[in-house]
Amino acid sequence: MLVDLLERTLELPSKSTVVTQPYLDFLTHQYQLSHNGVHGIEHWLRVLINGRLIAKQSGADIEVVEHFALLHDVQRLDEYRDIQHGNRAADFAASLIDDWIHLNPTQMYQLTEACRYHSMGRLSKDATIQTCWDADRLDLGRVGERPNLLSFVILAAPLLRARHSNKLPKHP
Ligand SMILES: [Fe+2]
Repeated sequence: MLVDLLERTLELPSKSTVVTQPYLDFLTHQYQLSHNGVHGIEHWLRVLINGRLIAKQSGADIEVVEHFALLHDVQRLDEYRDIQHGNRAADFAASLIDDWIHLNPTQMYQLTEACRYHSMGRLSKDATIQTCWDADRLDLGRVGERPNLLSFVILAAPLLRARHSNKLPKHP
């Protein structure tokens, strides 16, 4: 069960091929808002950890999930609805191919779809795309929102229930 996995939260992939200091530096400088806000790097890194945990169960492509975590909010222009930020993130991701992003066409499709529609409340049959969305939605608690369990795939639901039953520390 995922709850068992949570006791090994720090047992992360041995070495990420995606998350590097230069890539983080590049993306943090692209971000127009304050990183002290609710959509900055601390959120990206929580989504990254959520995504890694969920991917162990869902079989998601971890490279896509890791890129998503770092990119999906990087083009935000405000901390509120900013309904175009997903579109901008997808277009931005596409502009980084063969530069900061080295993914095959299938992975790029998953990454851009996940970015483009991540704030639309959708479900996807693609485990990688759904894992990206679940990883982001699991962090909604930071803005005082309790995510709708129906918007998660079944694998993420136990993680959320554990967090809300105080078995896990809540995000600040
Ligand atoms: Fe997000």
